[in-house]
Amino acid sequence: MASTSNFNPNPSFLLPPPHHPKAQTHLSHNPKTLTTDPDPKLVITGGAKLSGHVSISGSKNSALSILAATLCCSGTSKLRNVPNLSDTRTMVSILRSLGAEIEFSNNELAVNADQIGSVEPDPTRIGQIRGGFFVIGPLLGRFGEAVVGLPGGCDIGARPVDIYIGGLQALGAVVEVRDNKVVAYAANGKGLVGGSFKLEYPSVGATETLMMAASMAEGKTFLSNVAREPEIIDLACFLRKAGACVEGDGTNKICILGKSRLHGIEYGLMPDRIEMGTFMLAAAITRSCISLSPVLPQSLSSLIDKLSCSGCKITHKHETMELSAIPSSCRGDLQGFDIKTQPYPGFPTDLQAQTMALLSTCNGLSLVEESVFENRMSHVRELQKLGAKIHVCGSTALVYGKEKRANLYGTNVIANDLRGGMSLVLAGLAAEGITEISGMSHIDRGYENMEMKLQLLGADVKRLDLMKSTSSN
Ligand code: EPU
Repeated sequence: MASTSNFNPNPSFLLPPPHHPKAQTHLSHNPKTLTTDPDPKLVITGGAKLSGHVSISGSKNSALSILAATLCCSGTSKLRNVPNLSDTRTMVSILRSLGAEIEFSNNELAVNADQIGSVEPDPTRIGQIRGGFFVIGPLLGRFGEAVVGLPGGCDIGARPVDIYIGGLQALGAVVEVRDNKVVAYAANGKGLVGGSFKLEYPSVGATETLMMAASMAEGKTFLSNVAREPEIIDLACFLRKAGACVEGDGTNKICILGKSRLHGIEYGLMPDRIEMGTFMLAAAITRSCISLSPVLPQSLSSLIDKLSCSGCKITHKHETMELSAIPSSCRGDLQGFDIKTQPYPGFPTDLQAQTMALLSTCNGLSLVEESVFENRMSHVRELQKLGAKIHVCGSTALVYGKEKRANLYGTNVIANDLRGGMSLVLAGLAAEGITEISGMSHIDRGYENMEMKLQLLGADVKRLDLMKSTSSN
């Protein structure tokens, strides 16, 4: 695993890009220094019951936006509970490519962005994760200009950036897309100015990016039809503690009074509600009983309601939750249910695939409708290889539970994206025999110490390092 704790005070990409007033040269990417990571496989022997306790890591998606927000701050920001994942490490590389000084160890991260020397982050890294694009907000807010490559992320749909662009224009930016890069600068030649903007769709990333930009714009900004996800509230709490005036987060309207600069603070990230939901589903699919902490149950009431109706017994006290799906302690075996993914507080798209795996083991027929991303069904083909009976029509899937005897059995499958990949892990836990999952780099983007956590719960899960097995042959 690559370490991010070796802080390099003189990165070669500290120089600004050619168009920047302070620029001379900017060479950010040297392919010779890249090493190819072997993509390990996960081998699961299904059938084990889970028991015990699992610790939930800090939120990946909060980490990505709050890391971008540290660019607004003078002095050092210290973040706690930062998950050590390939996505957070990529975000660290993106900030370092701008000149930020970062130390990252033991889930604690210190960022000092005082010496930013570039407004153009490494495009290769930006192309790897969606969250990298968020830096356009703080860069534009702080420097009045930014050049950011079009973002990457999981292959789950077109994922355009038109809403980000419309919002930045409303704050006084001129924005052009050239050579796969978004080039933006303040029209007045100085900096952003507050404005009003209604998002066409409550995009999480666009809301976060505009919140950061508005925190450093002159005057007041009114954003409406914004996303209401708990990660938005986490970002707003960070910005407020750093000196910004932000109101309305958690509702569909946010009002921000800009400040010329925020200051570095200490901040602990919220627990990852998608990891929490995934482990709840792991207990449900194996008909087991586990406890989880720390959790914020209200951040996932849509899943809790569905699982309770399905027959799971869920209790919580303070930040600890217990879920039992053992048939003798529930109302018999679990019943199927319908879900439609929607922006918060609706059912999260990031739990659709894992829930589909569970539904393939429940009684009866279930309907799964994906309404957030247009291409988030690639796990279906792999779940079918494991014996799941699923029929897809466009963005809707009909999942036939046990009535069609959909017993899962182990085989070789491929993770094509983060959450879809995790649905295969859950199915493998419940399947008869051995499931071998390749494409683990997708899953590593979002689940910290996943197999160790499953092993501690009693699952038979092993990681095979392909590089090692090839060289020993
Ligand atoms: N959209 C547009 N135009 C835009 C922005 C978004 O049409 O300018 C559309 C998207 O194409 C999509 C919908 O709006 O159909 C929702 O996208 P949104 O912008 O809300 O998603 P995101 O910000 O790109 C974040 C999370 C995703 C999570 C979604 C929805 C991060 C880094 N990513 O993505 O997380 O699925 O919100 O909750 O915060 C994951 O963790 O696996 C993951 C994909």
